[in-house]
Amino acid sequence: MTDIDVTIKALGAKGDGVAETDGGAIFVPFAAPGDLVNIRVNKSKDGRRRGKVLSVTEAGPDRHPAACEHFTQCGGCSVQHLTPASYQSWKREIVCQALKRQNLDTAIVANLITGSVGERRRARLSARRLAGGTILGFFEMGSHRIVNLEQCPVLHSDITSIFPALRSLLDELLEVRSAAEVAVTRSDTGLDITLLMPGETDLTVRETLATFAETNDVARISWKPLQPKAGDDAEPIVARRSVAMKFGDIQTEIPPDAFIQPTSWGEQVLCENVMAAVNGADKVVELFAGCGAFALPIAMSGSQVFAVDLAQDHLGALSRTARSNGLGERIKVEARNLDRRPLAGPELDGLDVVVLDPPRAGASAQAGLLANSAIPTIVYISCNPQSFARDARKLIDGGYELESVLPIDQFLWSPHVELVSVFRSS
Ligand SMILES: C[S@@+](CC[C@H](N)C(=O)[O-])C[C@H]1O[C@@H](n2cnc3c(N)ncnc32)[C@H](O)[C@@H]1O
Repeated sequence: MTDIDVTIKALGAKGDGVAETDGGAIFVPFAAPGDLVNIRVNKSKDGRRRGKVLSVTEAGPDRHPAACEHFTQCGGCSVQHLTPASYQSWKREIVCQALKRQNLDTAIVANLITGSVGERRRARLSARRLAGGTILGFFEMGSHRIVNLEQCPVLHSDITSIFPALRSLLDELLEVRSAAEVAVTRSDTGLDITLLMPGETDLTVRETLATFAETNDVARISWKPLQPKAGDDAEPIVARRSVAMKFGDIQTEIPPDAFIQPTSWGEQVLCENVMAAVNGADKVVELFAGCGAFALPIAMSGSQVFAVDLAQDHLGALSRTARSNGLGERIKVEARNLDRRPLAGPELDGLDVVVLDPPRAGASAQAGLLANSAIPTIVYISCNPQSFARDARKLIDGGYELESVLPIDQFLWSPHVELVSVFRSS
C-alpha cells in the first residue's frame, strides 16, 4: 500500500476516475476528471490497480456536490460527483466506446436523454435482520454489506417512504441473522411488494401482511422463496386492488415482481421511438415482449403483433389485456426461450418490423438469424451497450445499416445506460 498524489485524466466505463502513472493506470472511485487527489493504492483481485481517495487536494472543473448522504458507501450510485454536462457526455461515451470496439460508426449516436431525481419506480432491496433490528437498502460497492438507507434520491418517494414500515415488518418476519430481498414497484394503482423470504407463510404471517398492507395502503403483497427453484412463482398473499400500469392508453394488470421499465418517462421515450420506426407496418414481431409495454401500443395503432417472451405470467397479462381491449385477434403470443430457440427460417418471412428488447446478455443467436433475414426494419432496445454492439456487428455484417442510436438514462448516477436503435436492410 502506497499513498500518492495523482491527477484524474478521465472516467472509466464504471464511473471510476482514471489516473495514468509510470506504473500504469490506476482506477479511483468517486474522483472526477481534473481532480488532484491523494490516494491509497491497492491491487485488486483482477490485477488492476485501484486507489481510494484520502483527500481531494484540488477539485477539477467537472466535480459537483453529491445529492445523497450515502454516496461513496452505497453501491447503487457511482457518479453523483459530476457536473450534469460531464455526466451526460460520460454516459453517451459508454455507448460510443462499445460501438468503437466493434468498429462501428459513432456519429449516429444522439445525445443522452436523461431524467431527474425521484423517478425510479422499481427497486430490489436487500435486507438482513440483526439483533438491533432490520437493515434494508442496497449493497455497498463490491461487498455484501447492506447500507441501511435513510434516503435515496433516485427512487420515487412512494418507495422510500415505506422503508421504515418495511423494516418493522421484517423485524417481525425474519429471525435474527437471516436475510431477505424486497422487490417494490410503484404501479399506477399503488405499491406492489414481493418479499423474497427464507421461510414459508402461515396464518400468522398472512395476518401480519394483511395488516401491513391495510395500514400502509399497499396494493398487493406477494411471497417468493429467497432461493427459488424453477416454477417457484411469487404467490400473492394480500391483493387489496388490482396492480396495473398504463402502456400507451391501455391499462394492463401486471403479475407480481413483473418486469416494467424503471421509469415512466423512459418507457414513453422508448415507446415513441418504437412507434415511429414501426410506422403503422402490417406485420410486427416483438421479441422479449414482457407484459406488452410496446406490443399493446403497436397493436392499438393497427399492426398485427406476434409477441414472444420466456415469462408465461407476463404473456398471460399481455393476452388478457389484448382480449379485454378488443385486440385479441391482433396480438398472438408464444412463451419461448429465445436463447435456445430463436425465431428462424419461415418464422422470419414476410415480416415488416422486428422489435427486440433483450436482457443484459443481449440476443446473440437471434441477431445472427435476423442478420440473414429480409426484414426491412429492426428496432433493437438494449440495456447493455456491450452486448448491443456485438449483436449490431452481426446485423451490419449481414447487410443492415445502423440508422440511429438514442442513449436513454433510466438508471440515474449508475454506470447503466439504455438505448433504442433502428436498423434498416440496405
Ligand atoms: C428488458 S425486458 C423487456 C420487456 C418489455 N419489452 C418491456 O419493456 O417491458 C426483457 C424481457 O426478456 C424476457 N426474457 C429474458 N430471457 C429470455 C429468453 N431467454 N427468451 C425469451 N425471453 C426472455 C424477460 O422475461 C423480460 O420480459
